[in-house]
Amino acid sequence: MSLTDGNIIEIDNLSFKYARQNKYILKNLTLNIKDGQWIALIGHNGSGKSTLARLIDGLLKAESGSIKVDGYEMNEKNIWDIRKKIGMVFQNPDNQFVGADVESDIAFGLENQGVPREEMVSRVADALKVVGMEKFATHEPARLSGGQKQRVAIAGVLALRPKIIILDEATSMLDPEGRKGLITLIKDLKDEYKFTVISITHDIDEATLADRVIVLDDGKIIDDGKPESIFIKNDELLNIGLDIPFAEKIRRELTKKGVDIPNKYFTEEEMVDWLCQFKQKN
Ligand SMILES: Nc1ncnc2c1ncn2[C@@H]1O[C@H](COP(=O)(O)OP(=O)(O)OP(=O)(O)O)[C@@H](O)[C@H]1O
Ligand SMILES: [Mg+2]
Repeated sequence: MSLTDGNIIEIDNLSFKYARQNKYILKNLTLNIKDGQWIALIGHNGSGKSTLARLIDGLLKAESGSIKVDGYEMNEKNIWDIRKKIGMVFQNPDNQFVGADVESDIAFGLENQGVPREEMVSRVADALKVVGMEKFATHEPARLSGGQKQRVAIAGVLALRPKIIILDEATSMLDPEGRKGLITLIKDLKDEYKFTVISITHDIDEATLADRVIVLDDGKIIDDGKPESIFIKNDELLNIGLDIPFAEKIRRELTKKGVDIPNKYFTEEEMVDWLCQFKQKN
């Protein structure tokens, strides 16, 4: 199916509230997401990020408005086709396992989709290999480290060949090294398999790696753009209680100390380069 303007997700005027609640969690939200992009969805606790993810996956039902995924309108007829297109990875890996060992856990999702046995075996093996967990095929998920568990969860999702992967704070339980490893892995996989990523995260430095950053505040999109345009307006983020990227913090501190540093967005790499040049000159 061809996509309108290359949008894999089209959300139009979406409103939602939980049953027996008065408050709208999302109100008239409109959002298009291009196929193949890495989106970072940020916003403080309770801003509606997970709710939005669950609506996109059809786990929750909109009160009004529409959601289209890969050209399919979200409705009772299409919901299962849509679900097949989306892989979700959550914060707590322990709640995501159903199998007694790693390989049967990954196979479970494939069985559910009626994938023939032979193909299932090869897909499980492939998925474990790409996340570097092939040696753990017969291990019990419970005995793995946090980072290994998330790798297995990602393998489970990859085996299903989704077009969209939604990471709902999937790295938040990991140490900084584990986080970096996991994000690098998913980035590499994205380039190879060409899926779309929506990464819900409180890690601003991770968000700087995205193609596009969407800032949700109280169920509304208050900012949306490339990292370099979002993170230079840092007061806005601080005002709604969000952090600013590490390189931006350094830039602000240097400015305060009277160092003549350009008033522009720096990636971490650019900041390191700038600091090295500065050191040579002075
Ligand atoms: N099952 C539920 N029933 C009623 N209200 C809910 C339910 N789940 C979430 N909420 C409320 O909806 C709002 C948005 O929650 P949501 O989990 O989508 O936020 P979030 O942005 O993912 O937050 P966090 O960063 O803490 O994960 C919050 O006020 C929350 O209390
Ligand atoms: Mg959440």
